[in-house]
Amino acid sequence: MPVEYLAASRSFFLHAKDTTYAFQILNGWPVHLYWGPPLTAQNLTDFLPLRARGFVCQQGDYPLDNIPLEFPVYGTSDYRSPAIEIFQPADGSRILDLRYAGHTVSAGKPALAGLPASYTDADGEAQTLTLKLEDQLLGLRVELLYSVFANSPVITRSVKLSNLGRQPLSIRRLLSCSVDFSAAFGDYHLLQLHGTWARERDLSCARLRPGSQSIESRRGASSHQHNPFFALTELAASEEHGRVYAFNLVYSGNFLANVEVNYDGNPRAQLGLNPFDFSWQLAPGQSFQSPEAVLAFSGSGLGRLSRELHRFTRRHICRGSWRDRARPVLLNNWEATYFNFNADRLAGIAATAAECGVELFVLDDGWFGQRDNDQSSLGDWVVDLQKLPGGLADLVRRINGLGLQFGLWFEPEMVSPDSDLYRAHPDWCMHVPNRHRTTGRNQLVLDFSRPEVCEHIYRQIAALLRGTPIRYIKWDMNRHLTEIGSAQLPPERQQETAHRYLLGLYALMERFVTEFPDILFEGCSGGGGRFDLGILHYMPQIWTSDNSDAIARLRIQHGTSLAYPLSSMAAHVSAVPNHQNHRVTPYDTRGCVAATGAFGYELDLAKLSADDLAATKRQVACYKQVRGLLANGDLYRLKSPFTTSEAAWMVVAADRREALVTHVWQLIESNPRDHYLYLRGLDPALTYQLAGTDQLWRGDALMSAGLPVPRPQADFTSTQWHLVAQ
Ligand code: DGJ
Repeated sequence: MPVEYLAASRSFFLHAKDTTYAFQILNGWPVHLYWGPPLTAQNLTDFLPLRARGFVCQQGDYPLDNIPLEFPVYGTSDYRSPAIEIFQPADGSRILDLRYAGHTVSAGKPALAGLPASYTDADGEAQTLTLKLEDQLLGLRVELLYSVFANSPVITRSVKLSNLGRQPLSIRRLLSCSVDFSAAFGDYHLLQLHGTWARERDLSCARLRPGSQSIESRRGASSHQHNPFFALTELAASEEHGRVYAFNLVYSGNFLANVEVNYDGNPRAQLGLNPFDFSWQLAPGQSFQSPEAVLAFSGSGLGRLSRELHRFTRRHICRGSWRDRARPVLLNNWEATYFNFNADRLAGIAATAAECGVELFVLDDGWFGQRDNDQSSLGDWVVDLQKLPGGLADLVRRINGLGLQFGLWFEPEMVSPDSDLYRAHPDWCMHVPNRHRTTGRNQLVLDFSRPEVCEHIYRQIAALLRGTPIRYIKWDMNRHLTEIGSAQLPPERQQETAHRYLLGLYALMERFVTEFPDILFEGCSGGGGRFDLGILHYMPQIWTSDNSDAIARLRIQHGTSLAYPLSSMAAHVSAVPNHQNHRVTPYDTRGCVAATGAFGYELDLAKLSADDLAATKRQVACYKQVRGLLANGDLYRLKSPFTTSEAAWMVVAADRREALVTHVWQLIESNPRDHYLYLRGLDPALTYQLAGTDQLWRGDALMSAGLPVPRPQADFTSTQWHLVAQ
């Protein structure tokens, strides 16, 4: 039973795959007992921190500030960061007293109104505990949802508030989860993914220190700067060893992740909507649903954690007909032409791509309005007949005639001040009256908290999709939010704008993926500025970074793989010198590094040398052979580009009969030492053949003696081994 309730001690044990999470109702409050390796349900009060013991049998008030609480409130003797704060306009109070008021257990995983969330295909895959807490005085009901997954070491948490009282309330803070760890678990590091444009998801890992350390976005998007994923890792945790507790949020907007270590060394980890510039009016009879937090545990290091998160994301976050399908090899014209193209030039590039085996041609920015640069036309989703005189239909016919599918770029959330849309509706963008409207990349953000704005964009784009066989859409978002305000909301609701923007965005995405289920959607935000589980619920892949340099990508993709599956990471082979950092790398290395779950090209293939063109044909053919393996296999990171001058990883099929191993040199040393890769995840008893050769190796030798890496001849060179069991 995933959810076990011991009535005698009023304790709950949540048993997901390979992990147990437990709490107990004490004095009406849910008190956290345990999270870690699987544990039989039993009375655990003896294991509470010593300072909490008195609390168990207390009669009067007892200090709460060292009690591990499941959902701490503001205004008590717990001085740590609360999970919830409610302003009560009737008397100005912010005090809450939330006590246990019952619970239910149901099969499966409920959807969350208006928000992306994890789901199951069958009810048997998860069980959900709804724990009801109530503040009697206010008539506020708080439902804590815990969904426990049978095939993943994952528990998801979210919170629903219902105002059952008579007075209006104002939500000032509502986090999706709060977990009080005990210092008895040992010292921990905080691992986080941070960065900026072209340097997304860099890794940082630092020892927890007393006080609060937080990661957040205030940009209206999950952001390049801080990803909502973070983990607490045991001091000595590595790819293979150690306890790791991971958190992520199924949300694409402002978030707060906060870890507060108290005076006894006990960390409190919290994640949810960022309280910064947020409040929400909750009138009597209304409810509010928080985004969902994903909590995962690994008792054997980061590698295992990532593999489990990858499986979970593929099976319980991504949806739709493309979830399990092989992704087409694509060619995107952006770095090949930027805005400078016409129909003949595009058809020429597509013709060479077709000869190489590419399956999908993607027309990026610049096909609409009068967009010859980034200064106009966003919001006017009408084809530019100067560039494409036969219209989109004619271009698509030509591309399809070459045997390629057609894909198109949009940036639905934006408007250029120089556009018909802005001239007609200057109040449709985010703005605050009488204040300057800050542009970013010469554009403003549409106010998606307004249904009529979303409706207008929906109609324009849907008309195009209905009239033309478009099989793929790249959904871009090239700036973050400023002057966050909505012309339609009253003053007391202005701080709802950023979250309402996300609700509008999600509703629009839901509409598109429902009406056009066969289109493959790819998320994008100036590269990987919105790489999160919220977007992945609608779009199974995301443009990982605008940085297409193979060596820079080693770090970006390694960091991203901590939390997200290879199948979600779009990666392209591009020209050299690289357009972002001017580096020159071998064509083979660019191919190896881009061969993730969503592979493509972003250059004018007609400009390649004969050798590179031949290599392209080989790469495409090879990728088609292994794309099922890359998309669904288990990833093992063998060498970190952050700590070594190499990078290496391998992907192993579920039945362990096939693997693809990739090794890349960054800067090589003079008179280089011997290097080996100790492979992982193979079947020790099987013999593997190196595809296309007579070379045989046993699995045990590859894992224990190691695979010798060829002597490096030059910086940035690479080797790939495709192993197939005999
Ligand atoms: C940013 C994206 O990340 C690029 O790939 C490209 O689509 C440009 N926007 C187009 O403006």
